[in-house]
Amino acid sequence: MYTALQHAHSGLRWVVLVLLVAAILKATNKRRGGSVYPGKDKLALFAMISVHVQLLLGLILYLWLSPYVQWQGDIMGQEIVRFYTVEHILGMLIGIAFITIGYSKAKRQVELNVGWKTIGRWYFFGLLLILLSIPWPFRVGFDAGWF
Ligand code: HEM
Repeated sequence: MYTALQHAHSGLRWVVLVLLVAAILKATNKRRGGSVYPGKDKLALFAMISVHVQLLLGLILYLWLSPYVQWQGDIMGQEIVRFYTVEHILGMLIGIAFITIGYSKAKRQVELNVGWKTIGRWYFFGLLLILLSIPWPFRVGFDAGWF
């Protein structure tokens, strides 16, 4: 159960990253095109759903399964424990909040171009926080994989 969820959570990062980049590129292309944001752009919607699925898998790992999340002992002194118990969840929660806020703001904007700009900006900063909070294999101290 633990290994399956860990792999699902790890692999799904690529779906999240591809969908976010695609949604941002589409919004950037459209932001001067003189069109009204359609309220429920499919790409923006699927990107938001993918981060919410990550949130759900992450919460299950965080609350019940991961040996790296600890509440006792020297949490801040152990790099991996501190990363998963504090930094990863915090960065991801803020990033996911950015994407959710962007999606729901844009939905209500009926002026030309405005909704596209909103998606572009909020999704961009959300993506940045997510990229910074991923335990990439090249970051010192983690033995997390690419998939
Ligand atoms: C878009 C959001 C997220 C992405 C892209 C993401 C990505 C990742 C990646 C790549 C790993 C490393 C997996 C490996 O060992 O190879 C990981 C681990 C982990 N993530 Fe996330 N994560 C996200 C959100 C969250 C959230 C919101 C939480 C907590 C509520 C969370 C909790 C965890 C935990 C506890 C681990 C360690 C699992 C383990 O190996 O024991 N993640 N995450």
